[in-house]
Amino acid sequence: AMIDKGNHRHFMQKEIYEQPVVVAQTLRSYLRRMDNQIAMPDMDFDLGGVKRITIVACGTSFYAGLVAKYWIEKFARVPVDIDVASEFRYREPVLEAGGLALFISQSGETADTLAALRHARAEGQIIAVVVNVPTSSMAREADLLLPTHAGPEIGVASTKAFTCQLAVLAALAANLARAKGKLTAEEEADIVWHLSEAPAALNQALARDGQIEAMAHLIAPARDVLYLGRGPDYPMALEGALKLKEISYIHAEGYAAGEMKHGPIALIDDAVPVIVIAPSGPLFEKTVSNMAEVQARGGKVVLISDADGIAIAGEGCMATIEMPQVHPLIAPLVYAVPVQLLAYHVAVAKGTDVDQPRNLAKSVTVE
Ligand code: G6P
Repeated sequence: AMIDKGNHRHFMQKEIYEQPVVVAQTLRSYLRRMDNQIAMPDMDFDLGGVKRITIVACGTSFYAGLVAKYWIEKFARVPVDIDVASEFRYREPVLEAGGLALFISQSGETADTLAALRHARAEGQIIAVVVNVPTSSMAREADLLLPTHAGPEIGVASTKAFTCQLAVLAALAANLARAKGKLTAEEEADIVWHLSEAPAALNQALARDGQIEAMAHLIAPARDVLYLGRGPDYPMALEGALKLKEISYIHAEGYAAGEMKHGPIALIDDAVPVIVIAPSGPLFEKTVSNMAEVQARGGKVVLISDADGIAIAGEGCMATIEMPQVHPLIAPLVYAVPVQLLAYHVAVAKGTDVDQPRNLAKSVTVE
């Protein structure tokens, strides 16, 4: 079937806008609203018996995996190792019996990830995959197939596949927690409730599009941009930086907010915009104190937070982007939207080829 851009200028923009619908579509196969439980496809192994999880992926899918590591360790208390696929293959990882290897890929065909999957299989791991293409090689080779239902993604820079991956991974983390006896029925119902709120929250995040478009001119002239976040929002800083460099060709780095003092703080001046991703919550004040270190050095901050966060820390920022007040579990999904939109509008302002950025491919089937 022909896929067109509809009313959108680029596929990337269309795909950003599809997120409330495709995340809802994806969640539908993992949430059972009638009894408030997480549902997983049938497995012929005991999830509760899994002792260790190894996550492997590339690019944006790797950052979804990084968020999953925070969730799985927090909720299920199962240790998680994570690697980019090109490193995993050659570093002789220790893979013990009772381990589950989890591969995340939009295409299901990325050469390094597929080779890593086969390596893990040969080493006796149970193979789980989160893929968007159900007919892909990775889907065919899995013991446990966890599909995302994002629909075809055309823009080279992944957007909707990423938030759908996060939705599936949150469900997996909760299901594993239940299998491990770490989640009461009440806590599970709570997670089901918060996840089912995600599509509406994504819509609220999209409502900031005009405001983000208007601030693109603040970022477009920069040579370097720094993104900061903590906890599960640290991978969102990495993803924000990746999106910006992929499509606008501005050098960008994502950093754990607390690690900034060990390096990037040396770069701070008024020419390096700093994007701070900080939903209010237990880590908020820590991130804000890192943000203050930036501002004390003349750094220009764009704070992405909720109303409470902006009320506390918005003063003195170059700009703020207000997200809905959400449960920390769904914050990474919701905060994906403003970083995608910011990269998109900066790229449009710079006149780059948004859907087909130079030197990049949608699916990398070579090593
Ligand atoms: C390429 C794409 C990225 C994608 C990465 C991994 O680099 O440009 O958008 O995140 O491959 O692809 P996968 O299909 O394995 O998720």
